[in-house]
Amino acid sequence: MHTKDQCIILSGGSRGLGLHLTERLLENGNSVATFARSRTAAMDRLSAEYGERFHFAELDAVDAAGVTRFVGETARRFGRIDSLVNNAAIGQDQLLMHTDVETIRRITDINIVGPTLLTRAAIKHMLLAGRGNICSISSICGSRGYAGLSVYAGSKGYLDAMTRALAREIGEAGIFVNCVAPGFFESEMSSVLLPEQLATIKRRTPSGSLSNDENIFKVVDLVISGTTNMQGQVVFVDGGITS
Ligand SMILES: NC(=O)c1ccc[n+]([C@@H]2O[C@H](COP(=O)([O-])OP(=O)(O)OC[C@H]3O[C@@H](n4cnc5c(N)ncnc54)[C@H](OP(=O)(O)O)[C@@H]3O)[C@@H](O)[C@H]2O)c1
Repeated sequence: MHTKDQCIILSGGSRGLGLHLTERLLENGNSVATFARSRTAAMDRLSAEYGERFHFAELDAVDAAGVTRFVGETARRFGRIDSLVNNAAIGQDQLLMHTDVETIRRITDINIVGPTLLTRAAIKHMLLAGRGNICSISSICGSRGYAGLSVYAGSKGYLDAMTRALAREIGEAGIFVNCVAPGFFESEMSSVLLPEQLATIKRRTPSGSLSNDENIFKVVDLVISGTTNMQGQVVFVDGGITS
């Protein structure tokens, strides 16, 4: 365990990896504010269990005014923002030649504009405090090619690049900016993969297994602990498939 008593904003905590990260961060004594477009039963359960330490709002990551309001409300509610985890994203499962313009805009809006707006709103509070940690959930697709994921991959490559630039921009102010890039793991997003595709990925992975939510949590928790001096990096959690 690395984080404790932190006030953390995490996008997309309603299900999948974001839900696991939220649950584990809460278990370790942190406060977490999260949002997603729809409320899930898990959000009600966490509200009942953790009371003031947990906050959920129904919010679309591309709603600029809503995101700014959410960050302001969270800072007031918790008193500070120690860390931000950019997790919310949508996937793609289509060759580029078949991907319509609405889909391209939706992926880039949610996966690029969304985390950029959230980061911009959060760093205002971190700059005033003179410290903070930002961890964006990227993907191995941001650095390696996979067919059918070109727009999604571009959005993850953007996060990697933004991380490096922002580390230069605000690193001196005591804010650590990094990415965690998982390999494929089981979730609604990766449910489009066929069993034989998953088997191929496993075969090509030196560790012989896909990463799971807990593997990724352990690295995210370390990255936002602010104890590592890691700055502007993309950390792969992929069993070595990119090695
Ligand atoms: N699954 C994989 O194999 C894999 C591999 C590498 C990296 N990743 C990355 O890991 C992260 C989590 O992925 P996952 O597989 O856990 O995804 P997931 O199961 O589809 O969950 C995505 C979460 O983001 C929220 N979200 C999506 N669009 C949103 C929007 N416009 N506004 C607010 N919230 C939004 C979703 O809630 P709503 O839909 O209700 O809004 C949900 O809470 C993503 O950044 C993904 O790119 C995934």
